[in-house]
Amino acid sequence: MSDIAKLQIGDNSYEFPLVKGTENEVAINIKTLRGATNGVITIDPGYKNTGSCESAITFLDGEKGILRYRGYSIEELADKADFLEVAYALIFGDLPNKEELEKFHSDIKAQSVVDDDVKKIIDAFPKTAHPMGVLSSLTSALTAFNPSSVNVDSEEDMYKSIVRILGKFPVLVAWTMRKKQGLPLNYGSSSLGYVENILKMMFEKPNEEYVMSPIIKNALDKLLILHADHEQNCSTSTVRIVGSSHAGLFASLSAGISALWGPLHGGANQAVLEMLEAIKEDGGDTKKYMAKAKDKNDPFRLMGFGHRVYKNFDPRATIIKAAADEVLNDLGVNDPILEIARGLEQEALNDPYFVDRKLYPNVDFYSGIIYRAMGIPVEMFTVMFALGRLPGWIAQWKEMRLKKEPIGRPRQIYTGENLRDFTSIEKR
Ligand code: CMC
Repeated sequence: MSDIAKLQIGDNSYEFPLVKGTENEVAINIKTLRGATNGVITIDPGYKNTGSCESAITFLDGEKGILRYRGYSIEELADKADFLEVAYALIFGDLPNKEELEKFHSDIKAQSVVDDDVKKIIDAFPKTAHPMGVLSSLTSALTAFNPSSVNVDSEEDMYKSIVRILGKFPVLVAWTMRKKQGLPLNYGSSSLGYVENILKMMFEKPNEEYVMSPIIKNALDKLLILHADHEQNCSTSTVRIVGSSHAGLFASLSAGISALWGPLHGGANQAVLEMLEAIKEDGGDTKKYMAKAKDKNDPFRLMGFGHRVYKNFDPRATIIKAAADEVLNDLGVNDPILEIARGLEQEALNDPYFVDRKLYPNVDFYSGIIYRAMGIPVEMFTVMFALGRLPGWIAQWKEMRLKKEPIGRPRQIYTGENLRDFTSIEKR
């Protein structure tokens, strides 16, 4: 293949260099397009064909169902690594050795206390507030408690803010849930592992010692790893674009949390469970809901199905489906929702509407079933996604700032009124 792309506009032709990734992905570098063509731009709503950056963090091939963080396959990471090792690899490029991991964990632990005044902010929220709104506000509020902006030319400064947020974020997550449940806002224990500590903070009752279930701990580790990064998705692109204006890390993350909240993105895990519940309440007629999903006059979509990038299968869904079977079995939970989910999946996989559009179960289709078996309330599901995605957002923000990427500022094609005269209000 030549390394030049040719573009013809009217009688003029232009040449643009091709950019090739390490996995042979190809892009046309149109950096000079507007200048060379006297104002012509590209337009691509939803960025379905537009690369926003070059990144060395995550590789995914939607046709082949491949997902790798820093070159390591998601299957191997989910099977062999723990979440903190994966977080380290995403943020710093390689899996840590024992000393590096111990130092990383101990630096995070040293930053795991949240200013006590944050509790006053939590108190001001109504109990009915959605936890994602609370989490986004609290993450933004951390900026107020740590106002110094991060000098991205200093690796030391960046490291400090990274361990700070990794230490405080699980506390905010646990407090968000506990406030809703009317439980005291607590702390974990610095003698525990990162994921074990999250569970203790979330589930410890004031009058009982918390006994850790290894099944639940392993399931959470796996779920967090599977959600840890997914290249330039909606929330990650948000984090990068907010950070490109040199807003701080916490402010950028807060924006990412808001982007994740929507039901077409991370909010789908809550929407899936609510959909499965509704089908159960309605008598379990999956065919009725399949028909609704296919009806173009009905806004209903089969939540947990379809993906912008995966057009064959979502490798995370394959791992989660097996994990759901295992966890429910190990915990002795018999959830009728699982049967409905399996039924819907079977029907969709054999239905021409879904087959033709390459719509397969995505990461969110089975994750809610595991979260529910673990005792996590439905409204917290997307918060759990955010907890998993945190290292990915951090890694992408750090990469963007170290590469000194320019401020993100797309253009548009204006389709409004041409110049017209102002009419005074009496004459309108
Ligand atoms: N149920 C019914 N029809 C669907 C669905 C669905 N879940 N998803 C896509 N379609 C149809 C859509 O109507 C369109 O049909 P047509 O070509 O006849 O107009 C076609 O499939 C292509 O869909 P699209 O909306 O153009 O595709 P997209 O790439 O813009 O959207 C998506 C991807 C994930 C937003 C979409 O599939 C969807 O809304 N899925 C349900 C929500 C969901 O599960 N989201 C979680 C995504 S995975 C977690 C994450 O990484 O965020």
